[in-house]
Amino acid sequence: MVNIEIDGKALEVPQGSMVIEAADKAGISIPRFCYHRKLSIAANCRMCLVDVEKAPKPLPACATPVSEGMKVFTQSPRARMAQKAVMEFLLINHPLDCPICDQGGQCDLQDVALSYGGDVSKFTEGKRSVAVKDIGPLIRTDMTRCIHCTRCVRFGTEVAGIREMGATGRGEFSEIGTFVEQSVDSELSGNIIDLCPVGALTSKPFRYRARAWELQSHPGVAAHDSMGSNIYYHTQHGKVLRVVPRENADLNEVWLSDRDRFSYEANYHQDRVTEPMIKQNGQWQTVDWETALVFAADKLTNIEQQGVDQIGCLMSPNCSLEEYYLAQKMLREKGCANIDYRLRQTDFEHQDYLASAPTVGFKPQDLNQADSILLLGIDCRKEQPLLNAQIRKAHESGQGAKIFALQPYHMQDNFDLNAELVLPAGDLVNGLLQIMKALSVDIELDAELAQKVVNIEVLEPAKQIAAGLQAKRSHIIYGQFALNHPHASVIAKYCDVIARITQSSAGEVSFGVNAAGASLAGAVPHRGAFGVESQKGLSAFDMCQHPRKGFILVQCEPEHDFASPRLAVEAMHRAECVIALTTFTTRHMLEYADCILPLTPGAESEGTYVNHYGQWQSYRAAVKPVGQSKPGWKVLRVLGECWGVNEVAFDTQSEILAECQDAYKNMHHKQNQLDSFKLEARFEAQAQSNQLIRVAPVPIYHVDPSVRRAQSLQKTNDAKVAKIQLHSKTCQKLSLTEGQSVKVKQDGKITGSSFAIICSDDLPEQIIHLPLGIPEVVELGASFGFVELEPA
Ligand code: SF4
Ligand code: SF4
Ligand code: FES
Repeated sequence: MVNIEIDGKALEVPQGSMVIEAADKAGISIPRFCYHRKLSIAANCRMCLVDVEKAPKPLPACATPVSEGMKVFTQSPRARMAQKAVMEFLLINHPLDCPICDQGGQCDLQDVALSYGGDVSKFTEGKRSVAVKDIGPLIRTDMTRCIHCTRCVRFGTEVAGIREMGATGRGEFSEIGTFVEQSVDSELSGNIIDLCPVGALTSKPFRYRARAWELQSHPGVAAHDSMGSNIYYHTQHGKVLRVVPRENADLNEVWLSDRDRFSYEANYHQDRVTEPMIKQNGQWQTVDWETALVFAADKLTNIEQQGVDQIGCLMSPNCSLEEYYLAQKMLREKGCANIDYRLRQTDFEHQDYLASAPTVGFKPQDLNQADSILLLGIDCRKEQPLLNAQIRKAHESGQGAKIFALQPYHMQDNFDLNAELVLPAGDLVNGLLQIMKALSVDIELDAELAQKVVNIEVLEPAKQIAAGLQAKRSHIIYGQFALNHPHASVIAKYCDVIARITQSSAGEVSFGVNAAGASLAGAVPHRGAFGVESQKGLSAFDMCQHPRKGFILVQCEPEHDFASPRLAVEAMHRAECVIALTTFTTRHMLEYADCILPLTPGAESEGTYVNHYGQWQSYRAAVKPVGQSKPGWKVLRVLGECWGVNEVAFDTQSEILAECQDAYKNMHHKQNQLDSFKLEARFEAQAQSNQLIRVAPVPIYHVDPSVRRAQSLQKTNDAKVAKIQLHSKTCQKLSLTEGQSVKVKQDGKITGSSFAIICSDDLPEQIIHLPLGIPEVVELGASFGFVELEPA
């Protein structure tokens, strides 16, 4: 620590910190534009000039380190003169079109000009102007207002990991923009709107919707990634007009992914259902709540009489803890445990050996200390953009963590991997066996399996991964390709073996915001709420393979949100009754459902999410429900009562939460026991060399019903995914050419849509890359299934 003085105030501050940091901590205001505490120091705006005793001229506070005995004056005549002069220069070319500028009222330049600017401009020459550039559907540019602080440029290089913005030209002609005319495609791009101190970069969807001072701010929790980013909803006249990050040092820091920032647009989409509806004689009728709930309860009673296990409840991984708790309570009171939120998974053999709730396996602050990280079957950049940014930071700065990957194909990471293992046919299981062999693991294996380990060849990347994981602080993080794999239990087991041997943490990055909440609250078929033993029920995949007669759907769309859209839609059509508790309707839903109960989205309801670190975060409604829609917990409560279940009669969400908290305190927290999970000899059906395997990632802007309806996100390049990618050699083998249209056949069903072929050598041969969760693949089955291509 060193002792300094700022404006006569004695301060003790850490050595190496900058004057501006010391002043900020002491609450002394120094104007700034280019400085941002989460970015590197550029010191190019000069707005923070301060007077330092014994210095021959004013110094930039953001780039001047403190030293013992230093005396700083932020308001001395010399400091004021320097600050005024910089302000005058900055305003020379500034358009000052505040009345039509979206930044008005929240603009650093306005604020600083008020305190440090002159009353009269001496500049009579023509001002410079820069043409508006279209950089995509999310960000509007008005570069005439740019003051060249380079925050947006540094964000791209230092946080987002893709350099999309840059400066061209010199002096008066220097301009900030994309180097070539193209859109900004980073999944974190919206953060440059917050970073820009002026109105050069503003939100396109929010443009001209309201003035900053007219908005009300409500804290909330974003509902799309398992981190549970903290947000503010900005509302006016009962409508959410924009979403911005709320700082949380442990989670999203000061950032927000575009998915969480812009998906609020879906709340006002035309598919939004605002009144209860029932289907009678094949016709949809809008009815009051009482009629709809009694209708739904009668239907359920009817199915119950045929056997209560004929009912199944399928819930989105984005529901609240309270909704999961009520839904499972209602079902279990009736003697049925067919409830699941793991809609995209197909292999559950190991479920009884898993911990009480999925976690990522480390604490938020551990990443910066990490020595090595293995990304296993996860497209982290697109699945969890902010976690990816933190992993990147750990790699580029922090401890300089080594990053390894075992993937079904080469991902578009925004950092250099230390080693990557991608095997023919995207074989993750074989990759793990190679790592185990490289670690000389002597696990108790089935004879056939042991033989397989003996026979496998260990490739160089597997050796590097094995060596890397033996570092002191190593973590294995797995995602959608591992979780949704037909051999997910084998992957989990091997992963656990490797983690135990190398003393690494191993954890999953789940789909949705509340997978942990769902597991804890018992929205799974193998465990009751908070560890209570329960009869066993069917998994989501089993319920699709062996359709129930009655389904309760909560915030999910079988045609998009399930492992096999084909099986899920068929199951819905075969059911005698489908009760959909949903915010949106789809064309398919209107065909298979019998009753639609309109639910509010997160911004209009209250609840609790448990994130992948195990943190509970409650949120309250920011605006009133649209139309007649109601929060899920209220609907489940009354539906339960109408169906004759009195144990769900809670009056408030807080009462449900309190019961959950009590149960959580008293529960026996089960740790992962995969070491006791006995693997049966299981091998993937080996693909013949002429067979194609479909790897089907869920694209970032198709993950759930609201993201799919966020209009601006749907215009981004990341949303345009209805294409097939395959290796150029596979193309040649099949006599196909790039750009050619093909249809895809899986499990005997062919797609109605055709897809253009893109050759990509990022994929192993035999793999075809065709996403899940998009409307064009409703006829197809699960990821890692065999497919055929037919010319369209
Ligand atoms: Fe006014 Fe600020 Fe907009 Fe410039 S950037 S026009 S100062 S509101
Ligand atoms: Fe700074 Fe905004 Fe200009 Fe980027 S666009 S350099 S953030 S003023
Ligand atoms: Fe210090 Fe820009 S804030 S030079």
